[in-house]
Amino acid sequence: MTQIIDGKIISTQIKDELKSKASELKAQNIEVTLAVIQVGNDPASTVYVGNKKKACEYIGINSLSYELEESTTEEELIALINELNNNEKVNGILVQLPVPKHINEDAIIKAISPLKDVDGFHPQSVGALSIGQKGYVSCTPAGIIQLLKRSNIEIEGKECVIIGRSNIVGKPMSLLMLRENATVTIAHSKTKNLKEITKRADILIVAIGKPKMITREYVKEGAVVIDVGIHRLESGLCGDVDYDDVAPICSAITPVPGGVGPMTIAMLMNNCIESALQ
Ligand code: GUN
Repeated sequence: MTQIIDGKIISTQIKDELKSKASELKAQNIEVTLAVIQVGNDPASTVYVGNKKKACEYIGINSLSYELEESTTEEELIALINELNNNEKVNGILVQLPVPKHINEDAIIKAISPLKDVDGFHPQSVGALSIGQKGYVSCTPAGIIQLLKRSNIEIEGKECVIIGRSNIVGKPMSLLMLRENATVTIAHSKTKNLKEITKRADILIVAIGKPKMITREYVKEGAVVIDVGIHRLESGLCGDVDYDDVAPICSAITPVPGGVGPMTIAMLMNNCIESALQ
C-alpha cells in the first residue's frame, strides 16, 4: 500500500508544537514579531501573505504588515528594511517575492539582516547551510525534511535525485539531503537521459514547474516521491508529478494540494520562533 504523506496533518502538528513554544516564550515576556512586506498587489502573493499572517495569529506571533504601492522604489524598500533591521521588537523580516521588475531582488534579499532572514534566502544563510553552520534554512526544503522524518522515511545512505536547481528549493534541498547523509544528484532542464537518472532514486524530489511531467517511466518501483509543484489547471490543482499514474508504484508520495505546500508556512513559523531565541 502506498503511504500518502499528509502535509496538512504534519504541518498542523508542527504549528501546534510552535504554539506551545510561543506561549512559553510569552510567559517569559518574550514576544515574537514578524514583519511581512508586499510590494504591489499580485493576487497570488496576496493569498500567500494572508496565509502567513493567519499562521502567525494561530501560533501567537505578532505580524506587522506593510502593503506598499507597486511604484515603490528600490531605495524606499531598502530604507524600510533598514528601519526593521534596527527595530529591536522585530525578530523576522519577510519580503514576499516576486517584487516588481524595477526592483532588484538580490539587492532586497541582501538588505535583510541575516539575523532576521526567516526565509533563509540571504547569501550568508545559504553559505552557512553549505558549510554546515548555523543559520536560517529555506522553508520549503526544510519542510520536506520534516515530512520525511515525521513519516519515518530513512534518508541516510539513500539515493536522492532532485529535479530543479532553484535558489529557493533545488539547491538548498540538495544541501539538506547531503547533511542527512543521502547520496545526492541534482537534475535540471539541461540534464541528458533524465529518466535513467530519476529511476535511480530511492527518494525523488520534483521541483520543475511543469504540470504532471513526471510519469511512472521516471520512477523506480518502491521509491518515495515528493512533489513540490503546484499548478492551477481547468481540472483543478495538480503538481509536477502525474499523481494517478505514479502513486500506485511508489512506497510513499505527497499529494497536491496537501503535501509540501502547507509545510512551507509551518517552517517559516519555526524560523520566526528561532529568531526570538537568539
Ligand atoms: N514567493 C514564493 N515563495 C516565497 C517564499 O517562500 N518566501 C517569499 N518571501 N516569497 C515567496
